[in-house]
Amino acid sequence: MKGVIFNAVEDAVTTLYSADTWDDLLEAAGLSGEYTSLGSYDDADLLALVGAACKLTGHQPEALIRTLGEYAFPHLASRYPELVDAENTHQFLRAVNDIIHPEVLKLHPDASPPEFTFEDRPDGALRMTYKSARRMGVLAEGLIHGAANQFGEKLDVETISGAGEEITVFDIRIQAADEKAA
Ligand code: HEM
Repeated sequence: MKGVIFNAVEDAVTTLYSADTWDDLLEAAGLSGEYTSLGSYDDADLLALVGAACKLTGHQPEALIRTLGEYAFPHLASRYPELVDAENTHQFLRAVNDIIHPEVLKLHPDASPPEFTFEDRPDGALRMTYKSARRMGVLAEGLIHGAANQFGEKLDVETISGAGEEITVFDIRIQAADEKAA
């Protein structure tokens, strides 16, 4: 996984907890923590950091990865501001597969981001299907919430099938303003 993702997760941990917590996690996972954005690192490092964070906080891995994804998004958005130039979350999400990750591949030819497909559902939901051998759909779910925060929207993301699998299907709905306030 590219170093920029580790940098984004470091930012998330620092936002949610503290810089010291990130150092504690590195130590617990036995990692040096020297992640440069252009470098590539073992996916196992990321999983070891998540494991250490679960031990430290008592959270379940899925919930923790989702939260880290949500709070990692601002780092990606600030590093690539030209890629988050959209009007709303749905428009932005539709660009992830055709514009954003392909642009990422130009900058990082050795990256292998996930593939997404989209379908408009009769009930108005945006069906987004994640596909990657990394089985990190739950990270995608967190990033989707992070993107919504960026656009000032709140979403319901329902996992339809394949949680933790290579293919995970989500139905995404924008919450009405009164639900937001609730
Ligand atoms: C500005 C926005 C974004 C940027 C710059 C970005 C960039 C990247 C980069 C560099 C990777 C690492 C790939 C690798 O190392 O092989 C990655 C992976 C990933 N991205 Fe994005 N991304 C963005 C938005 C999103 C969004 C909105 C989602 C969710 C819908 C998403 C889902 C993922 C997932 C789940 C991975 C982990 C790898 C996998 O599951 O195969 N990304 N992204």
